[in-house]
Amino acid sequence: MKGLILSGGKATRLYPLTYTRAKQLIPVANKPVLFRVIEAIRDAGITDIGIVVGETAEEIKTAVGRGGQWGIHVTYIQQDNPLGLAHAVKVSQDFLGDEPFVMFLGDNVIQGGIANLVQQFQESDWSSQIVLTRVKHPEQYGVAELNQDGRVIRLIEKPKDPPSDLALVGIYMFDQLIHRAVEEIQPSWRGEMEITDAIQWLVEHGHQVFPYIHRGWWIDTGRPGDMLEANDLVLEELSPTIEGYVDRDSQVDSRVTVERGAEIINSVVRGPTIIGQRSRVVNAYVGPFTSLYHDVVIENSEIERSIVLESSVIRDIPARIQDSLIGRNVVLNRSPIKPKAYKMNLGDYSQIGLLE
Ligand code: TTP
Repeated sequence: MKGLILSGGKATRLYPLTYTRAKQLIPVANKPVLFRVIEAIRDAGITDIGIVVGETAEEIKTAVGRGGQWGIHVTYIQQDNPLGLAHAVKVSQDFLGDEPFVMFLGDNVIQGGIANLVQQFQESDWSSQIVLTRVKHPEQYGVAELNQDGRVIRLIEKPKDPPSDLALVGIYMFDQLIHRAVEEIQPSWRGEMEITDAIQWLVEHGHQVFPYIHRGWWIDTGRPGDMLEANDLVLEELSPTIEGYVDRDSQVDSRVTVERGAEIINSVVRGPTIIGQRSRVVNAYVGPFTSLYHDVVIENSEIERSIVLESSVIRDIPARIQDSLIGRNVVLNRSPIKPKAYKMNLGDYSQIGLLE
């Protein structure tokens, strides 16, 4: 069985961070989401993995390489335009051949891995297995309707009147029949070749599509709020270690990970939280559910439930920063230069919430 990771796309909902970085490389608990996806597939015993890439191809290739660090072999598949998930399957036909495969969206994070469901599919004679999970607002997702035998009879995108609360998770398994399906379907009203239409084609042509009901959490990290939520959930599951330096004046609780070369000086750090390599926390408070990536400085400031990417500096900020996603090389400080005013140099689509 092969693996196919979709790591193209535009990621408009995560602007401005994704102007300059592939969304799949944004870290959750200090590990890029794409690396978590690779590990989930590898842990299911699959080592021949194709990665569909788009505009951010070079960045992804640099980060993942040929896959040796995970003991896998990676093939890159260029998709010139993000024309939909079924289109991504179409451009991957040469790589996939006639082998069954698991397709995993490169921006999804799932609890507990996929080894069980891959095994279930391998032991079956189904054409496809899709992963479903119960959600509170099915009208916001692709929803599956099942018959009494538990077989999929219909998939509906964002239904006004949902037939079930079972939403599609970004993980799918297919045999070679999917290639026929993607040839047969037409682009949808939004101009994309939808994988739901291709699966619906399988159902309508009498092929077996079975659901796997996932019971742990699952996050599609499409929007900033989802990114923070995924960070919360993954941090809860980390086994904390202290490899950096914590001075005697600091309080660091047992749910904090301090990576190599990091320093905590005269500060309070409450977990679950991770302080990345060579980051410095000085006279500061870092509250629960925070991930500081590598080479970050937090000084004379307070931060909680946030993600700060590499090499950013937050210094002398009087109010606590919370629920924030801060990019790379950002500098946030108090300026001694008059006039006394907010002075900003923000990228397009930046969002700032100031106190009243
Ligand atoms: P989406 O989140 O549906 O699309 P997007 O990444 O373009 O984001 P936005 O809606 O914010 O603009 O994509 C899900 C995953 O699939 C994501 O990892 C990107 C990938 N993808 C492709 O590789 N090719 C495609 O044609 C599309 C649509 C998505």
